[in-house]
Amino acid sequence: MNLNTSGTDIESVVVTQDQIQARLAELAVQVEKDYAGRDLLLIGVLKGAVMTMADFSRSLQRHVEMDWMAVSSYGSGTKSSGVVRILKDLDRDITGREVVIVEDIVDTGLTLAWLKSNLESRGAKSVEILTLLRKPDAAKVSVDVKYVGFDIPTEFVVGYGLDFNEKYRNLDFIGVLAKHMYS
Ligand code: IMP
Ligand code: MG
Repeated sequence: MNLNTSGTDIESVVVTQDQIQARLAELAVQVEKDYAGRDLLLIGVLKGAVMTMADFSRSLQRHVEMDWMAVSSYGSGTKSSGVVRILKDLDRDITGREVVIVEDIVDTGLTLAWLKSNLESRGAKSVEILTLLRKPDAAKVSVDVKYVGFDIPTEFVVGYGLDFNEKYRNLDFIGVLAKHMYS
């Protein structure tokens, strides 16, 4: 879905489809270099990271495996609490694996900090993070994000996997949701 079909729900475009594709291709080159000669397991965080995983993984000119987790941060609405519940766990054991977590956005960083240490505690050989978007608050939590697509302002964004009440995930760009939609 593009801007024309989203009407007035979207206040402004933060990252275009072309910018996303170009940046993911750059990150793919970087990851190829960093993991040359090593097996790589991409772990996507459902549901937001579906689009990023699909496009990033297809930019990679190498073999990878993929697995998925679904987690939920307790807490209501648009605030993250840091208390994380696993809704869907990995299909396979990750002992000794080199893992890159693929995420849509790092806001407070609480979810990823928890996820990274959870995967490390399962005996992964290495765990790095790739995120399409990062908000400024992420700096407050000491979670090391190795691959960042775009640093964006602290605004509630939707599209390209990111939702508001489960909608807008299928926008092919990242946009700021108009305030009248949630206030
Ligand atoms: P964190 O734990 O605060 O880093 O937030 C983690 C999750 O909150 C993300 O994976 C998203 O699912 C959600 N989230 C944070 N900011 C936004 C946003 O601007 N739009 C949509 N979802 C968001
Ligand atoms: Mg997410």
